[in-house]
Amino acid sequence: NSFTSIYESIGGATKVRQLVEAFYPRVQAHPLLKPIFPDDIQPVMEKQYLFLTQFFGGPPLYTEKYGHPMLRARHLPFPITPSRAQAWLECMHQALDEVEIVGEPREQIWSRLVMSAHHMVNQPEKTD
Ligand code: HEM
Repeated sequence: NSFTSIYESIGGATKVRQLVEAFYPRVQAHPLLKPIFPDDIQPVMEKQYLFLTQFFGGPPLYTEKYGHPMLRARHLPFPITPSRAQAWLECMHQALDEVEIVGEPREQIWSRLVMSAHHMVNQPEKTD
């Protein structure tokens, strides 16, 4: 029902883990994204697991450990162009498909991620 969080409706911690594990190999293989991510992706995966848990309405794991997400500010050190935002969303779309997040929760997750990704853009297309 409408009081169930996205987090619960997709299957909780197990599904969020699967999503993160499906997403980062694609990021690391993407020519536009690979150069701005560290080689050791494990710490990023862990932070994203904590963040997406709370983003989907689960327990506030990211904030408990790192404080307010302030995601746009935390992304400012990295040149995020419109095409990098598009690339990020493509990897996420494929990851959502791979772990079979479908239906209404998929629609809600997708629209929120599209907005967040566009919000993260901090560089025009040609300066990097
Ligand atoms: C961290 C890239 C969008 C959530 C990072 C890092 C990079 C990055 C390079 C830092 C990795 C490091 O620690 O060295 C991008 C790009 C995006 C994007 C290119 C394209 C728009 C998003 C979106 C979300 C998100 C839409 C969430 C909805 C996070 C989180 C972290 C992170 C939670 C860890 C922050 C921390 O340091 O605590 N991202 N990101 N990112 N990103 Fe993104």
